[in-house]
Amino acid sequence: MRPPRSFLPFLSFLSVFLLLVCAPSANSAVSNTTIDDTSSAFVFTGEWTAVSDSQPCEFCSSQPDPSQTFGGTWHDGNCRTGATDTTTGSFTFTGSAVFIYGIDQAQSQPNIVFTLGGTQTTHHYTGTERFAYNALFFSATGLEAGQTHTVNWIFNVDSDTDVVVQSALFDYAIVTSGTDDVPTSVTTPSTNPNPTLATNQKEPTTISTSTAPLRSRIFYSHNRTCVRPVVHLS
Ligand SMILES: *[C@@H]1O[C@H](CO)[C@@H](O)[C@H](O)[C@H]1NC(C)=O
Ligand SMILES: *[C@@H]1O[C@H](CO)[C@@H](O)[C@H](O)[C@H]1NC(C)=O
Repeated sequence: MRPPRSFLPFLSFLSVFLLLVCAPSANSAVSNTTIDDTSSAFVFTGEWTAVSDSQPCEFCSSQPDPSQTFGGTWHDGNCRTGATDTTTGSFTFTGSAVFIYGIDQAQSQPNIVFTLGGTQTTHHYTGTERFAYNALFFSATGLEAGQTHTVNWIFNVDSDTDVVVQSALFDYAIVTSGTDDVPTSVTTPSTNPNPTLATNQKEPTTISTSTAPLRSRIFYSHNRTCVRPVVHLS
C-alpha cells in the first residue's frame, strides 16, 4: 500500500502544471473581429445607398453624424409603402457568434426581419431618439464555430407610423471566432424592456423578440415585402 516513492508528488505537480498551461489557451482562442458595412461579407440588394465621407448622400432623409458611426460609413436602405421591390441584405461569416449593429431611428424605421438558419426575429425600434448609434439589430451566439453562416434580412413597412418612405441604417458587424461559454440564444433586441432572453439552450433555436407578437404574426402571414399589409381587425 506504499505510494511509489517521491515520484507521486511530481506527477501531481505535472498535472496541475499542464492544467494551468492548457486551460488559458482554450479561452485565448476566442476573439472578436469588427467588420465594416463596406466589406464584401455584406450584400445589400434593392434600395440601398452606401454613404461615406467621399460619397455623402445629400438626398437621403437620414443624416446621422458620421463621426459616431464605425469607419464613418453606413448603408442606408429604403422601404416604401406600396413598393413592389424588396429591400434585403445578408451577412456571411465564420464564427461562433455574430452581432449586427446599425443606427436606430425613431418614427421612420421599417421592421427588419432577420433569418439565420431556422430562426427568424424582427428588430423593431420603440425608442424616441432621432439617431441611436451602435444599436444592436441582431445577435446570435453558440453557433458552430468552424462553419460559415449567413444572416439574411428583409424590410417590412412599420405600420405604427405614417411615414411613407422608411429607412434603416446598417453600420457594422462583430464576429466572434472560436468557441466560448456564451449560452446559445438568438435575440433581436429592442428598447422595449422585456426580460424574455433565453439562456442555457443547447440548440440555437430560441427566438427572443420584444416586438408586439400579434403584429409580427400578421406580417409573417403576408408576403414579406415592403408592401404595407392589409390588416383586418374584427
Ligand atoms: C465580443 O463582442 C460581443 C458583443 O459586443 C461581446 O458581448 C463579447 O463579450 C465580446 N467577446 C470578446 C471575446 O471580446
Ligand atoms: C412575394 O413578392 C415578391 C416581390 O414582389 C415576388 O417576387 C414573390 O413571388 C412573392 N411571393 C409570393 C409567395 O407571393
